[in-house]
Amino acid sequence: MINKNPKNKDKLVLALDVESFEEAKKIVDELHDYVGIFKVGKQLFTKVGPKIVEYIHSKKAKVFLDLKYHDIPNTVQGASKAAAELGVFMFNVHCVGGSEMMKAAISGVKSSKNKDTIVLGVTVLTSINEEILRDEIHVTDILADYVAHLALLAKNAGLQGVVASPKEIKLIREECGKDFIILTPGVRPEWAAAGDQKRVMTPKEAIDAGADYIVVGRPILAAKDRKEAAKKILEEIG
Ligand code: C5P
Repeated sequence: MINKNPKNKDKLVLALDVESFEEAKKIVDELHDYVGIFKVGKQLFTKVGPKIVEYIHSKKAKVFLDLKYHDIPNTVQGASKAAAELGVFMFNVHCVGGSEMMKAAISGVKSSKNKDTIVLGVTVLTSINEEILRDEIHVTDILADYVAHLALLAKNAGLQGVVASPKEIKLIREECGKDFIILTPGVRPEWAAAGDQKRVMTPKEAIDAGADYIVVGRPILAAKDRKEAAKKILEEIG
């Protein structure tokens, strides 16, 4: 049975990690009945621009604009206003930009016509491990403590949630409470290859652990039957 429960559909975020407008359009056409939110990242947005956002909206789906702003507050405020004016459902900024920068992102949204746009914080990228954090970036905190600290900083600055690895969900929930949004990539159904993702959870495990949204890319994009793959994930989290 197709699970078209909008609640489940809206928990599934598909990473549109493709190179062209044509490819992205084809995937949106194929999957907008099964996927509520499409993630548009730096590669696709740099190549294609706002027209992909407009196209996704024309199919009545939502957009997570994954551009991870990190700049001086004034610049982030302007970029955030521009993101909100595109009508995206959510976008993100790096927490290490600090409280003032995160507050500027929120005030950019509030000065736009789409005041409900969700702003998420990126804590520590999953490509950064304990060693890189300490030896290269010179942050001596334990990684998990640093993630929890940044999540709370984001919450106190007025952000609605964070992007986090599945492993960090529990800690962030404890630190930031039940209303704080957690969106998690690194999700792999049992039937899909892990690829370069190392610390994975299945969609059901991630939702059960407290994720509000799961980001899935290759398990759907590389599937022989993409609709079937998306449907299976919806059934699993349903
Ligand atoms: O193909 P896959 O399911 O691994 O795609 C996951 C998506 O989530 C990619 O777009 C990736 O860049 C993004 N992402 C991630 N880990 C993070 C943040 C974002 O995998 N910590």
